[in-house]
Amino acid sequence: MADGRFITFEGIDGAGKSTQARLLADHLRAAGHEVVLTREPGGSPGAEEIRRLLVEGDPARWSAETEILLFTAARRDHLEKTISPALARGAIVISDRFADSTRVYQGATRGDLRGIVDDLHARMIGREPDLTLIVDMDPEAALGRGLARKSGEDRFEDMGHAFQVQLRTGFLALAAEAPERCRLIDGMREVDEIAAEIATLVARWLA
Ligand code: ADP
Ligand code: TYD
Repeated sequence: MADGRFITFEGIDGAGKSTQARLLADHLRAAGHEVVLTREPGGSPGAEEIRRLLVEGDPARWSAETEILLFTAARRDHLEKTISPALARGAIVISDRFADSTRVYQGATRGDLRGIVDDLHARMIGREPDLTLIVDMDPEAALGRGLARKSGEDRFEDMGHAFQVQLRTGFLALAAEAPERCRLIDGMREVDEIAAEIATLVARWLA
């Protein structure tokens, strides 16, 4: 995985990650780059099957520990089948969520499981993104956006407002923990304004 670049989008549900990941992919393709746009949980056929187990159904369906195993299993397949091959051929990989989501959703909200998340990550994944864009926004507004979609994949949104507030705090802490890799993006603005800021930031970073 020598040549490619690995960019991830992170943030709470409904913050605008998918929208901005798509716009950045379009922008970089127009500039002549090979871009692989992908997402987690999912991003490979096997991982998409695991995704359904995770995002549908009763919020209490899995313990945080079981979720860590399922998300890591999905991530391992995503890495093997999609991310690593693309980076090896020099593509820019843009993933809508990656390991930071597990650090925050499973590692920091239902007991302190961060040590387990980090151990498993080191053993089974062993790769960080080169750049992480954390889209930050007010949980109330984000939750309204997310549930308005009624996607049938609302298991985590259904955990409620207090959970989303904890997640936001977790992502802000992560940004402070890894400032060389993470950039905070204010998501409470018009789509185009956010996209323009990200395009400029990524162009500078690539150069
Ligand atoms: P995420 O991937 O973070 O859950 P999405 O990109 O899917 O977020 O956006 C959630 C919803 O909010 C979508 O309906 C999307 O069209 C809308 N949306 C995204 N960005 C903005 C924005 N800056 N302002 C208003 N609505 C937005
Ligand atoms: P996603 O489809 O990105 O949801 P959204 O568009 O609402 O942001 O992700 C599905 C859910 O899975 C989301 O609520 C976050 C959660 N998740 C974790 O809890 N841990 C993880 O490691 C990942 C990748 C996602």
